[in-house]
Amino acid sequence: MFNIPRGTRDFTPVDMEKRRFVQKKMSFTFESFGYKEIQTPTFETLELFTAKSGESIIDELYSFRDKSGRELALRPELTAPVMRFYVDKLQMEPKPLKLFYFGNCFRYDRPQKGRYREFTQMGCELIGTSTEEAIAELIALAYNAIINTGLKNINLRVGNLDFLKYQYDKNLSEFFPIGSNELFRLIDKEDFNEIQNQFNEYNIPNNNQKEFMDFLNINKLLDLSNYIEKNHLKRYEEIFSLLENEFNIINIRPEMKIARGLDYYKGIVFEIDAPILGAEKQLCGGGEYELVESFGGKDVPTSGFALGFDRIILALETEKFSFPVIKTDVYIVPVNEDMIQKSIEIAQILRNKGILTDLDLLKRGISKSLKYANSKNAEKVIIVGPDELKNGFVTVKDMESGEQKLMEINNLAKNLKNN
Ligand code: HAM
Repeated sequence: MFNIPRGTRDFTPVDMEKRRFVQKKMSFTFESFGYKEIQTPTFETLELFTAKSGESIIDELYSFRDKSGRELALRPELTAPVMRFYVDKLQMEPKPLKLFYFGNCFRYDRPQKGRYREFTQMGCELIGTSTEEAIAELIALAYNAIINTGLKNINLRVGNLDFLKYQYDKNLSEFFPIGSNELFRLIDKEDFNEIQNQFNEYNIPNNNQKEFMDFLNINKLLDLSNYIEKNHLKRYEEIFSLLENEFNIINIRPEMKIARGLDYYKGIVFEIDAPILGAEKQLCGGGEYELVESFGGKDVPTSGFALGFDRIILALETEKFSFPVIKTDVYIVPVNEDMIQKSIEIAQILRNKGILTDLDLLKRGISKSLKYANSKNAEKVIIVGPDELKNGFVTVKDMESGEQKLMEINNLAKNLKNN
């Protein structure tokens, strides 16, 4: 027997029905906001991911050399691949360019519930605009894409990396080694013990520590004006107001602790959580970022987000969401071997009319077939027997009421659809 690799999963037919249901809902929401789907390869050159993040990211990647010695990596996310694609082939497309994707990602993470080594992201990238309305619409899209799956309890937190960097420069940067971004990683992880250790290690004066930590703990828009000048606050406040008043988002708050681990963000950043999930509760992360120029493209505003598809399914399951079950419309049972040919013929007629039709392939008796049909949630069973067939009829049994009717084969598809 072989074991499944650590951090990966198999999906049963029931799992896949849930996944397809959620994927369809989210694609529909993306399309309703004018986004178009694209696809990029599962592996890329390793350099694509180390370009902005540095060699240290290799520890978090599945990277390998192919038979010709090329250094490659399974994608840990899709923003860098989509920007590579944009710079290579899509720069001339009319702006704004609204793209979405659905794909598996790979990270050498420590697996636990909601954290896998192979997982799926569904995300959007917006290229060519950074107006307040554009950023508010992007954030509202992420929020709506989750809500439209049927999930109820989520929180949206919106941060601003310019504000965070300003406070860092004002209070801390002169004490930290130049170019160190360790603190931002700790803020992202909310590892306050380690942050305090760093303050101690670099002898940060108490007043500076306090101002910086008070700023990090802000959770009301009003309090920001104590730390950030009015004219710098305007854009952030306008986006907030659009989200609250025009996009009608209630569960929203400012959050200055959002540092975002990836190394390409700037400006507005945001995250969405499902508190019901506990430790791995982050369903979505995104914001404004810069990659195009460093990939050799012409400077253009870019922003986007990715939804943790697997965590959204987990959250729906935890909220006891009742996923629709795909039923077999019809299960056909030939009563003896002579009826098999005609049964196949009937199955093909019904399938061609869009009726989900299954057929007894084990040549077993009626009662066993009925049991199997039940386990497949068949709505109707068609029994093909010689006496009825002689007159061009079959017996149709409704599996819920138990009622049986004779139906003419010629009108079968029409009658089944009407019933
Ligand atoms: P991220 O925050 O690294 O952002 O990932 C987005 C989401 O993917 C997370 O919020 C989480 O739900 C899910 N996720 C991440 N790692 C795992 C894992 N090991 N197992 C299960 N789910 C996971 C990005 O990837 C950016 N590319 C988002 C973005 C798009 N920013 C701009 N455009």
